[in-house]
Amino acid sequence: MARRVEDGLSGSPLILAGPLLLAAPLLLAGDGWDDYGLIDSGHGRKFERYGAWRFIRPEPQALWRPRLSEWAAHGEFVPGSDEDGGGRWTFTQPVPDNGWPLALGAVKFTAQCTPFRHLGFFPDMAPVWEWMSAQLDGQEDAATLNLFGYTGVGTLSLSAHGPVTHVDASKKSVAQARANAELSDMAQRPIRWIIDDASKFAAREVRRGKRYDGIILDPPKFGRGPEGEVWRLEEHLPALIADCRRLLDQRSRFLFLTVYAVRMSSLALAGLLQDVFAELPGTIEHGELAVREDGDDARLLPTAIFARWSNDQIPV
Ligand SMILES: C[S@@+](CC[C@H](N)C(=O)[O-])C[C@H]1O[C@@H](n2cnc3c(N)ncnc32)[C@H](O)[C@@H]1O
Repeated sequence: MARRVEDGLSGSPLILAGPLLLAAPLLLAGDGWDDYGLIDSGHGRKFERYGAWRFIRPEPQALWRPRLSEWAAHGEFVPGSDEDGGGRWTFTQPVPDNGWPLALGAVKFTAQCTPFRHLGFFPDMAPVWEWMSAQLDGQEDAATLNLFGYTGVGTLSLSAHGPVTHVDASKKSVAQARANAELSDMAQRPIRWIIDDASKFAAREVRRGKRYDGIILDPPKFGRGPEGEVWRLEEHLPALIADCRRLLDQRSRFLFLTVYAVRMSSLALAGLLQDVFAELPGTIEHGELAVREDGDDARLLPTAIFARWSNDQIPV
């Protein structure tokens, strides 16, 4: 099927097969909520609230000056000399070792200061989870797949619309995700918790002839499967997206891909989707994820790039 590409910039549409690619980037900015907020940022750091606890973490993209003169935090993650890893938490007051409960809507989860500088969930993903729920509005039996699912906040949000398959290479992350399901009182929902390499699992699902209504994937730049399988985003993403496409069909509703800490444009992600989704209808959009600071003069802190495919032409 021939479709127009509107670049939104030059106003000159191109005729191509496949979904409509909206070439002008979108901004998907998340606001804070009761249990999370970006209080301030600047001078290469950010100051956030996680429930009653406040932390400072490194943030290389906060190039500006902080708005507040003082950041009274319970703890700070001080990076090592190596940009990609290392570093440690220092605390000014004791913080619960085993974490503390937070909520986002109906989903409850444990926040915790992890050795990897994260707090056990990624707050910038909130607008992504909201968008996926909107795509599945009114559905109660939509089958979805969450690859690189981490501690399961996205999975639990998707589970309101039907069965979810959650895949992550880390036994510990999947155990935390299951604990978050218990905490949310959602342990009885039809969720398959799978410890596996995302690429291997997707390929196996293709061989089994499986289909999904929606897929989300949030791959790291570099990772390892449970048996040491190497994941390098630039090298392995095209084949994984091709398998994801084989798991979707004319009746499927979305694919959402987020990528962070990589030298890449969201337009490149959109180009990959456009290539692979050529036989499907729908729309491809791309852009940046950001978190909006608390307060009236709030600024936007960019966190990741994304591309997504959605289908509003489901055959009846
Ligand atoms: C950034 S996290 C995803 C965060 C998640 N979307 C969220 O917002 O909660 C990336 C995850 O990828 C997992 N991972 C890394 N390499 C993997 C692989 N080869 N197969 C499956 N999962 C992998 C890690 O264990 C980690 O949990």
